[in-house]
Amino acid sequence: MDKLIIEGGARLKGEVVVSGSKNSVLPIMAATLLTDQPCIIKGVPNLRDTNTMLKILRSLGKVAEFDKGTVSIISTKHANFIADYKLVSTMRASFCVLGPILAKLKKAKVSLPGGCVIGLRPVDLHLKGLVALGADISIDSGYVIAKANKLKGHHLYLGGGYGSSVLATDNIIMAATLAQGKTVIEAAACEPEVVDLAEFLIKMGAKIKGHGTPIVEIEGVKHLHGAEHAIIPDRIEAGTLMIASLITKGDVLIKNVLFQHLGAVIDKLQEAGAYIIKPDSAVHVRCKKKLQPINVTTLPYPGFPTDMQAQIMSLMTITRGISVITEKIYPDRFMHVAELNRMGAHIQREGPHAIVEGIKQLSGAPVMASDLRASASLVLAGLVARGQTLVSRIYHLERGYDNLDEKLRQLGAKIWREKE
Ligand code: EPZ
Repeated sequence: MDKLIIEGGARLKGEVVVSGSKNSVLPIMAATLLTDQPCIIKGVPNLRDTNTMLKILRSLGKVAEFDKGTVSIISTKHANFIADYKLVSTMRASFCVLGPILAKLKKAKVSLPGGCVIGLRPVDLHLKGLVALGADISIDSGYVIAKANKLKGHHLYLGGGYGSSVLATDNIIMAATLAQGKTVIEAAACEPEVVDLAEFLIKMGAKIKGHGTPIVEIEGVKHLHGAEHAIIPDRIEAGTLMIASLITKGDVLIKNVLFQHLGAVIDKLQEAGAYIIKPDSAVHVRCKKKLQPINVTTLPYPGFPTDMQAQIMSLMTITRGISVITEKIYPDRFMHVAELNRMGAHIQREGPHAIVEGIKQLSGAPVMASDLRASASLVLAGLVARGQTLVSRIYHLERGYDNLDEKLRQLGAKIWREKE
């Protein structure tokens, strides 16, 4: 396993290009299970999670190749309806193969994903949606077993206790594309990654309307054909790089950005004192003046994304004043707090709230990554801490960021890898 060493203090300057969106490419790769025809997906980031999804597709009978950012997927004669625990348990997003396998093969056996450090990660909404489409669902030995000779369109409500569910929306949209008749999903997730999935499905011949709004309508069709698609840029990587520029008082041009996907993030960073201009499909971020403390609450899109919560917390640890960060999607998503406090931060957790009292400077320390976005927050803190920060278990980071250390190094960060 590798670790990252970061010498704090460099102000980031220059240009960086954002990779394709992890949370868009994973469900889109799963959607290729809905057809026997070849699919080509471009702009794919090189991540542990995309490699895991390639392995899952191969285990389900696809030939899936990844070369220079392009994934090509073709079917073999050995379609398999079982998604194995060994692979699914390493990546929760794999659960979104359930809907497409069931719709295509009329049966599916997919391991329950289990929880992770950011929360229990239940799948009740996924199962509720599939039952509404007429699936027979049972749980046996840690697997979901789903059967449906013919899925039937239905008008269903998919909201849960924490609002809409991204992957449950993905699963039900994909299943509904091959169902008989019309499906209406109320309280559908509106994230840009759901929209990107729907656009890919429409290219495959699906009939979908309202994607990106809370009411999505799908008219089932008999079959879907292959398609070619380019993935949208990763808005969370873009937001992470924006904070890297701000936290180091740098001046960075971030390219390949759809800033319409970053409304809440840009709004909050401007409130904190960022100077952000938006040339064509880019954002130029620098610190206008002394940063100001802010209050942030994470919400389903278009609200402030939970996947940016840890990163903005790092920024607030060195912003004089009191900032309150409230996590409404995953109330336990605070594994980064203890590690940031080891670097001298003053963060107090009160239930779903983190109260951050900004200090003058963090001090470098050995810290441990626990999940994807917590890892990013520790790297951001290391960029500005006095002395050296050593981030271990960076395989968490590699799950969702394509060469982040290399991108930061190109901007002048003193960051390198060593074997653990
Ligand atoms: C997606 O996960 C993202 N992952 C997550 O990104 C992201 O944090 C999350 O959406 C919220 O935006 C991918 O897209 C691969 P949810 P997902 O279902 O779909 C509860 C990252 O860092 N819920 O939208 O699994 C759930 O517990 C990752 O890139 C139920 O109660 O999340 C949570 O509180 C982390 N029942 C809330 O809904 C269900 O059946 C939102 O979860 C499903 C979810």
